Amino acid sequence: MSNRFCERHPGCLDLTGKVALVTGSSRGIGRAIAIKLAQAGADVVINYLRNKTKAEETAAAIEAEGVKSLIIRANVAEEKEVIAMFETIQEHYGRLDILVSNAASGILKSALDLNLRYWRWTMDINAGCLLPLAQGAVKLMGNEGGSIIAVSSLGALRAIPNYAAVGASKAALESLVRHLAAELAPRNIRVNAISAGIVETDALKHFPTRSELLSESLRRTPMGRLTEPEDVANTALFLCSGLAHMIVGQTVVVDGGYSIVG
Ligand SMILES: NC(=O)c1ccc[n+]([C@@H]2O[C@H](COP(=O)([O-])OP(=O)(O)OC[C@H]3O[C@@H](n4cnc5c(N)ncnc54)[C@H](OP(=O)(O)O)[C@@H]3O)[C@@H](O)[C@H]2O)c1
Repeated sequence: MSNRFCERHPGCLDLTGKVALVTGSSRGIGRAIAIKLAQAGADVVINYLRNKTKAEETAAAIEAEGVKSLIIRANVAEEKEVIAMFETIQEHYGRLDILVSNAASGILKSALDLNLRYWRWTMDINAGCLLPLAQGAVKLMGNEGGSIIAVSSLGALRAIPNYAAVGASKAALESLVRHLAAELAPRNIRVNAISAGIVETDALKHFPTRSELLSESLRRTPMGRLTEPEDVANTALFLCSGLAHMIVGQTVVVDGGYSIVG
């Protein structure tokens, strides 16, 4: 890969020899990120919860890029399962350079229809998971440091119908990203978030207002198309590369301009 983009960090878009963990990479945005990092030369750990066949399909796509993959089933909302996942990574690779905390879920209801059980469940999966994930990743990141990226959404800042719990969990996630970023920068570990606009994945099937969301998002997006998984994956590759060396604790919005209009 050409070095001419970045003299201080030669080969900085080349991730050969690096190991990346992408949570929730059996499908959707996580899958696109996993494949993008593999195309840049990283070995990729694929995490999933229920869909083993899809995880195996992602693994095949990654190995077709000439790098190694490892599939680990773990519920990111369960601390013990996250700890066990890092033990497996330690056994297989002995290191980790990139963590992408992408897996998410949550209860889609208006605030008045939520209860604390739904709230805690959504918070645990979407925000709480970053704590044990980051703690596990830091232990495997050596003196070279590394990169941690969390995938967020515009609901962290905007009120979206039926998105109260998920939006609040993403706001907590983005705040945690900033706190982790300040703590970990002295170890040369950069922590950032990517906030994506509406992306047509399986996740949208759970939205009661799916077709309105899609058509309204398309109509209002200055770039004239919806955000695609690959758009998010390109940003993830940039953020974990040396080109983004001074980007720390930021939330990069990838939405074709949707959030700056209206
Ligand atoms: N789609 C959008 O419009 C959009 C917009 C902005 C931000 N995002 C964010 O982008 C990320 C990915 O979303 P997506 O649309 O690609 O979702 P998706 O298509 O529903 O895929 C979710 C992925 O996460 C995994 N997963 C779910 N719960 C998990 C858990 N508890 N532990 C481990 N893995 C789990 C799933 O595994 P299985 O296959 O095993 O179920 C799957 O791989 C999320 O953080 C989401 O909030 C999405």
